[in-house]
Amino acid sequence: METALIKNLSRHVGEQVAVKGWVYNQRSSGKIVFLIIRDGSGLMQGVVAKQEIGEMVFAAAKKLTQESAVIVTGIVREEPRSVGGYEMQVTHMEIVSIAEDYPITHKEHGVDFLAEHRHLWIRTPRQAAVLRIRSEIEHALRNFFYERDFVLADAPIITPSACEGTTNLFALDYHGEKGYLSQSGQLYNEANAMALGRIYCFGPTFRAEKSKTRRHLLEFWMMEAEMAYYDIDANIQLQEEMIYYVIQRVLAKCQNELNTLDRDIEKLKAVTVPFPRISYTEAVELLKQGGEDFTWGEDFGAPHETIISSHFAAPVFVHRYPTAIKAFYMKPDPENPQVVLGADLLAPEGYGEIIGGGQRIDDLALLEQRLAEHKLPQEAFAWYLDLRRFGTVPHSGFGLGLERTVAWLCGLEHIRETIPFPRMLHKMYP
Ligand code: 4AD
Ligand code: MG
Repeated sequence: METALIKNLSRHVGEQVAVKGWVYNQRSSGKIVFLIIRDGSGLMQGVVAKQEIGEMVFAAAKKLTQESAVIVTGIVREEPRSVGGYEMQVTHMEIVSIAEDYPITHKEHGVDFLAEHRHLWIRTPRQAAVLRIRSEIEHALRNFFYERDFVLADAPIITPSACEGTTNLFALDYHGEKGYLSQSGQLYNEANAMALGRIYCFGPTFRAEKSKTRRHLLEFWMMEAEMAYYDIDANIQLQEEMIYYVIQRVLAKCQNELNTLDRDIEKLKAVTVPFPRISYTEAVELLKQGGEDFTWGEDFGAPHETIISSHFAAPVFVHRYPTAIKAFYMKPDPENPQVVLGADLLAPEGYGEIIGGGQRIDDLALLEQRLAEHKLPQEAFAWYLDLRRFGTVPHSGFGLGLERTVAWLCGLEHIRETIPFPRMLHKMYP
C-alpha cells in the first residue's frame, strides 16, 4: 500500500492509499466518525463509517484522543467542503498509540503556556505552516545562489574575535582560551571570497541581546553572501534579485500555508524589482517630514524603520549611513567619508531591517586605523588584515536574517514563531 502525504492527495484521487499521522480533531455523528488527521504536510478529513469498518474499529475510532497516532487507509476523493479539499473514506485503521490528555487543546492558550510547550505547539497547523514556509525560503535561497555559481563556504561558529561589536558577545571557554560564538560569518566570508570568488554561508549566529523585542533572538540563522569585485551597487542589485526570487518561490509553493496563516498575499505580489533606494540622509528627511524629532547621525530604532518603510510597497534600501554608527569594516564613501558604502534593506509592513550589508574596506592602512578606533585587538585580526596585503580588491557582501524574513513573508507579529525552538532573553526551555 502506497503511503501518501496529505499535501499530495490531489495526485491520488480515486486511489487507495495509506496516510500515517496523528488525530488533530474528532467528532462523531451516529454511525460516522469524522477524524481530522495531520501528517506534518497538512490536514485531511477521514470518514470512518461503522458499516464499512466494523463495530470494534468504529468503537475505537470514537474514543481516539487528540494526538493519538493512526495509520488510515482508504480511497481518496475530492471534497471541497473538507479541510484541504480532499477526504478519505477510511476502510482500514491501525492505532499506533493512544495519546494522554493533550495540553494544547483547540481553545486559546496564553503565550507563556505555548512557549513552554513549544515542542508540542509546533504541531498546530499555524506553527507547522510557518515552519514549512521557513524551509521553502531556505531552499529557495540555496537554489538562488547555486544557480548563480556561488560556492557554499561554511563559516566557523566558534571564533576568537568579534565581528559586530563587543557588547552582545557570547563568550566561551575554549580550553583555557577565550572564544566567542559567531555573531556573523562575514570576516571568514571575505577570506573565502578571495579564495573562491563569490560565496555564501548559511548558519546559526549568536548575539547576547539584552532587550526583549518582537524582532530579536539570541540565536538566529543568517544567510550571508560575499563577492569579490562587487561594489555597493552590484551588491544591492544581487540582494533585490534574491528577495524577489524568494517571494516568487513562496507564492508558488506555499499557497496552502499562506492561506492557513491568513496572509494577505496581494502585499507580497505587489513587490516588484527594482526596489527603491534612498540614502540615510533622505530617510532622515522622511522622518522629519513625518513630524519625528530626529537628529542626523543617530541610528534608526524600530519605530523609525517602520515609518520609513511605510512610504514604500516594496522593501527599501537605505544606503550611506553615518560612518560613526556602523561597523569597523565598512568602506567610507570616497565622495563623503562621513558616510559609508553600506546599505540596509527594510522590509515593508513594519518588519524592519532584514538585511545588513555593504562594501568593505579594502585598504590596509585604513583598516588598521579603524580597528584601533574601535579598540579591537590587532593580533586577533592579523589574518583579516592579510586579506588586504595579498591581492586586495573591492568587495561587498551582506547578511539576511532568516527569521525576520520568515516573519515578514508569513505576516507574523512576533519572531518567536519563525524558528522551531527560539532562543530569547531568559528563555532557553525547551
Ligand atoms: O545587520 P547585521 O548585524 O549584519 C551583519 O552581521 C553583517 N556582518 C552581515 C554581512 O554583511 N555578512 O545582521 C544582519 C541581519 C539583520 O539585518 C537582521 O535581519 C538579522 O541579521 N539580525 C537578527 N535577527 C534576529 N535576531 C537578532 N538578534 C538579529 N540581529 C541581526
Ligand atoms: Mg544591521
